[in-house]
Amino acid sequence: MRMQKLLLPLLLLILITALAACAAPAADTSQSASDAAQPADSSAASSAGEATMKSYEDMVVGYAQIGAESEWRTANTASIKEEAGNLGVELKFSDAQQKQENQIKAIRSFIAQQVDVIGVSPVVETGWETVFQEAKDAGIPLILVDRRADVPEDLYATYLGSDFVEEGRKAGNAMIEILGGEGKIVELVGTVGSAPANDRATGFREAIADTPGMEIIASQSGDFTRAKGKEVMEAFLKTYGDEINALYAHNDDMAIGAIQAIEEYGLKPGEDIKIVSVDAVRGAFEAMIEGKLNCTVECNPLLGPQFFDLALKVVNGEEVPKWVPSEESIFFPDEAEALLPTRKY
Ligand code: AHR
Repeated sequence: MRMQKLLLPLLLLILITALAACAAPAADTSQSASDAAQPADSSAASSAGEATMKSYEDMVVGYAQIGAESEWRTANTASIKEEAGNLGVELKFSDAQQKQENQIKAIRSFIAQQVDVIGVSPVVETGWETVFQEAKDAGIPLILVDRRADVPEDLYATYLGSDFVEEGRKAGNAMIEILGGEGKIVELVGTVGSAPANDRATGFREAIADTPGMEIIASQSGDFTRAKGKEVMEAFLKTYGDEINALYAHNDDMAIGAIQAIEEYGLKPGEDIKIVSVDAVRGAFEAMIEGKLNCTVECNPLLGPQFFDLALKVVNGEEVPKWVPSEESIFFPDEAEALLPTRKY
């Protein structure tokens, strides 16, 4: 019994020593893991890490573009293609000719081809959940470029683009200044159901809400195109004639089409009918220099560099903000001549 009493502490001591001996290699392992960052014995650990990290050259990107409806869109497409070329990214580019069904088909084809990441400018806000979910299920991250989609946030990695409501507010405030707070306005709306059309309408109305003299007398879509802008402006003029004091166009292309309609009607755009539009494309600067456009609010299409930067981060599992806003300005005729040579689109 006494012998047993003496043996028990001895056994405990042996057990503790054995456990400490087992723990020692674990501490050593963590040490050697951090040592693996050193060049000498790093090969195995770093090649395992690198195997999962992509570079621009081995990234395949699917891009579902809306179409070529405006000068803005042409510049946007050029920026995406040019930057892909600069970086050596393999770009699969699809032009949907302004049809949502074509964009959906393009996304499905990118999924089937197992691209690394998909960029999409949704032509309208709604109707994307199913196909975005399919991309998510396939493990392919999706980046919204230029336009938002009305989907839960977990269905896309990030949105890169403008604050369209703010653009509408800027246009509204500029219009108040130009009209001296009073006037009858016609509105050329962008593509029905698109984020910029919805938001630019909202922002403009917000801005003029407290100025009772500002009245929107007619509002109709010109689908962001020059031809439609002209056609709808002709209809506005037919109905309201010189009752119209001002035009708010959701993009420069529609404003440029409307300028033609106003001239053909026998009125002076920029004088008889004041015009504020959005985009700040070169055509708008030329119109301002000619005195036919009173203001353009900038919407930046040169999104290529930011898009591929985000794409690489997303593909490599890096955290990115849910919204990366583009920086934008507002321009008036007095600075148009000096700025035109500096404009890139
Ligand atoms: O989504 C951006 C808008 O789309 C631009 O303002 C317009 O010109 C384009 O077609």
